[in-house]
Amino acid sequence: MLTTKEAIEKRRSIRKYKADSIPDEYVRELLDSARLAPSGCNAQPWRFKIVKESDVKAKLAEAAYNQAFISQAPIVIVCCADIQGYLDGTVSGVQDLGQIGAIEDRIVTILKGKAKDLETIGSNELGPRIASNVAIAIEHIVLRARDFGLGSCCIRLMDEQKVKEIFGWSENVFVVALLPIGYPAEFPIARKRLELNAILID
Ligand SMILES: Cc1cc2nc3c(=O)[nH]c(=O)nc-3n(C[C@H](O)[C@H](O)[C@H](O)COP(=O)(O)O)c2cc1C
Repeated sequence: MLTTKEAIEKRRSIRKYKADSIPDEYVRELLDSARLAPSGCNAQPWRFKIVKESDVKAKLAEAAYNQAFISQAPIVIVCCADIQGYLDGTVSGVQDLGQIGAIEDRIVTILKGKAKDLETIGSNELGPRIASNVAIAIEHIVLRARDFGLGSCCIRLMDEQKVKEIFGWSENVFVVALLPIGYPAEFPIARKRLELNAILID
């Protein structure tokens, strides 16, 4: 089992996969790691569609501007935000956090007011706002996948509307990313990163 540091340092975006399938138990573990991610007000708006069917994976690759490697992964996880789930989860989450005393009453009142405001915002605007919650859950999956020797590549370059049409999803679903996962058939060198001092703001 890798340490968190090792998983972070050894992770690469993998775009070539072996044909080997992924045991269902591993997929369950990956979803479980997503479930444990933090989220604003503990709203947990992430939802995932596991795609194994070749024809559906091909459609996803096409919706992602023909990034063909997507269809070659044994599974693709379509990572989404559930907008109504977020609204409901925010209300109950604030309530719970207040009740257990994790947040001050003063903050509960502010958050309740913000939650009300959210209901007046359309799904087009809410989706991108919620996406950061899902992104954290995605990174949990990506890092946990390393424990099973699995590689992945987060995909944002896609026509989200086309992805939604594949599954017949309503405007309640905001597609955050595609995540093809499989056993790596390539071992890329570490990509360039900014130096530490370059990521500090004066
Ligand atoms: C939000 C996000 C969107 C990305 N979208 C794509 C994509 O559409 N296609 C792709 O091949 N890689 C995509 N990547 C992978 C990046 O290119 C990659 O993370 C970056 O080049 C650094 O390489 P590394 O992940 O191997 O360290 C994306 C990564 C992130 C985090």
